[in-house]
Amino acid sequence: MADCVEANAANIALAGEAIRDGRLVAFPTETVYGLGADATDDKAVARIFEAKGRPRFNPLIVHVASLQVAEKHAVFTDEARKLAAGFWPGGLTLVLPRRPETPLSLLVSAGLDTVALRVPAHEIAQALLRAAERPVAAPSANRSGRVSPTRAEHVMSELGAAETLAMVLDGGPCRLGLESTVIGFPQGIPTLLRPGAVAREAIEKVLGHRLAEADAGSGEEGRASPGQLESHYAPGSPLRLNARDVGADEVLLAFGPDAPKAKTSMNLSTSGDLTEAAANLFAMLRALDAEARGRVIAVMPIPDEGLGEAINDRLKRAAAPRG
Ligand code: TXA
Ligand code: MG
Repeated sequence: MADCVEANAANIALAGEAIRDGRLVAFPTETVYGLGADATDDKAVARIFEAKGRPRFNPLIVHVASLQVAEKHAVFTDEARKLAAGFWPGGLTLVLPRRPETPLSLLVSAGLDTVALRVPAHEIAQALLRAAERPVAAPSANRSGRVSPTRAEHVMSELGAAETLAMVLDGGPCRLGLESTVIGFPQGIPTLLRPGAVAREAIEKVLGHRLAEADAGSGEEGRASPGQLESHYAPGSPLRLNARDVGADEVLLAFGPDAPKAKTSMNLSTSGDLTEAAANLFAMLRALDAEARGRVIAVMPIPDEGLGEAINDRLKRAAAPRG
């Protein structure tokens, strides 16, 4: 069993050593916990897929300390730089063409000629990057097809037994609780590949125009973000979306002040705050899933604006039939 340790200076130094040794370290970011490995070491990166039990090689996000470091690995356009200036460090990931001379593992790109880069804001993530002295590839630290972990305990329960996991750095609950927003630039056009922690409206404001839409289901765009599997975010219990009432044999994931009564229920935000709801989403889905034991989780409607778009995207995936 991996150790779950306090993220103090001594343990962060050990974590940096473990990364340089090709081992895995789970660490907090402001979005969700990541399962990190040396992004320049193919074997270390392969261990991530192994530990996660991924059904295929999805490309991974590479975490770096700054825009300056990111520019060593990928080719930035003016608009990409604008977004980096506006949202880094933070919950935004940019998918850009790899530089031919980058030492990044090809496996982090899963065969694509692009790489996903993010500069995390979380102090512990930044300290780990300094200690590792290299870029750190990290998907969310959950087993494949499960919801993303927002607390160290979630990581321990899913991946604690993985032999290759050196340690879990405990930094408490994640502030945002929702994965980063992923923006790609197919044909140079800023395109929303995955809704997430940074709202579309905020990105469009910085760009001064609308984002193009990736069609997750079909053709080139679908292949551009293979992580957009229909059943990627799946709790074990079935979900019933847009529920305005709750059946006797259902548990309830509520939102807002007017929740119907239910024996077992949790409220994403009693005041109807979408940011609070995003921060609670995965932890509450997990907790309800554990209590439901196969019963249906009825989910109240969430407004499809701001972070609600990302929440609804996750809920739709969680409700999709398993392939
Ligand atoms: O908040 C987050 O983004 C967390 C923390 C740990 O940084 N990471 C995370 O990683 O959610 P992951 O691997 O679970 O999701 C990465 C997403 C996937 O949808 C993947 O398909 C997409 O980014 N992605 C990565 N590289 C890509 C690429 N080269 N082209 C298109 N999409 C890419
Ligand atoms: Mg993930």
